[in-house]
Amino acid sequence: MNASIEPLRWDAQARALYMLDQRQLPEREVWMVCKTWQDVAQAIQDMVVRGAPAIGIAAAYGMVLAADGCDCEAAVAGLARTRPTAVNLFWALDRMSRKLKDTAAADVPQALLAEAMAIHREDRAMCEAMGDFGAELLPKAARVLTHCNAGALATGGYGTALGVIRSAWREGRLSMVYADETRPYLQGARLTAWELHHDGVPVKVICDNMAASLMSQGRIDAVIVGTDRVAANGDIANKIGTLGVAVLCRHFGIPFYVAAPTSTIDLSTPSGAQIVIEQRSSLEVTHMGDRRLVPEGVGVENPSFDVTPVDLVTALITERGVLKPLNSDSLAKLLSQNEAHSQSV
Ligand code: MRU
Repeated sequence: MNASIEPLRWDAQARALYMLDQRQLPEREVWMVCKTWQDVAQAIQDMVVRGAPAIGIAAAYGMVLAADGCDCEAAVAGLARTRPTAVNLFWALDRMSRKLKDTAAADVPQALLAEAMAIHREDRAMCEAMGDFGAELLPKAARVLTHCNAGALATGGYGTALGVIRSAWREGRLSMVYADETRPYLQGARLTAWELHHDGVPVKVICDNMAASLMSQGRIDAVIVGTDRVAANGDIANKIGTLGVAVLCRHFGIPFYVAAPTSTIDLSTPSGAQIVIEQRSSLEVTHMGDRRLVPEGVGVENPSFDVTPVDLVTALITERGVLKPLNSDSLAKLLSQNEAHSQSV
């Protein structure tokens, strides 16, 4: 049995954060070491670590490194500037800032480390709980399509959408995962395929433009994706291309599930229209590695995320249960609860 995949490891002796460099997958498994909060911020910006929950966890450890150098205020601001769309980054920085405020100066390094480790540990537990709730939604021998990478690599381990897929596989409910390649950054082809193959889960990569054809042939039973932010009305932001998949699901009558921990729900953002969408380098579109694909002088667009309106979402799978229907009331009710429960909210 392979060791379970985790993108982040804290080395207590070295007081350093190790990150599996996701830019180098699937060819190489290389670990990068971060010894300062600036190293962590750079690594988030450069996509060494990516995926909403993993970004939040990395930022929390970044704050631990900042506390060692008494540089917390600058660290909060610097880490917050790295990527704008995933709310988990801001959620984790808020939680770390609150801990900082409530702690006597002499105890700060230890208290922040304990908080970062709690965020890390809790994230993995939330993914496992989502896996159990979500797997129940799938039919026997399900053929599931996913977009981007919402897996162990994007979280503290196990994954959100891929956590549901892992649980379904373990329970004998899954026959095939179709991973959209996810142009332009290819998280599906490089990362989702790598981690499912690593764990022995059957996976095929398809180009993004093949999903409609498979659906039209009745070869997809459900779509499960992760999200970077759930707005108060239930609109969700996720990797560019997610909206198209959701529209296809509506056309073909296929359930479109979103899996996310409550740390991804942002009641302070009223709807998807207010979510800041990260715009990334045009080079990701114009080039494939060193090779230019688009003629010089031709413009491109590269929004990294899109917004899927709530009415296209069949249900939201969280660590506290499944929200069906997803709407502002069910979200507000969910966040007002403390206890996990297994029924639809
Ligand atoms: O740009 P990325 O790779 O950070 O985008 C990641 C996604 O869009 C994921 O689907 C999302 O963060 C959910 S991860 C559990």
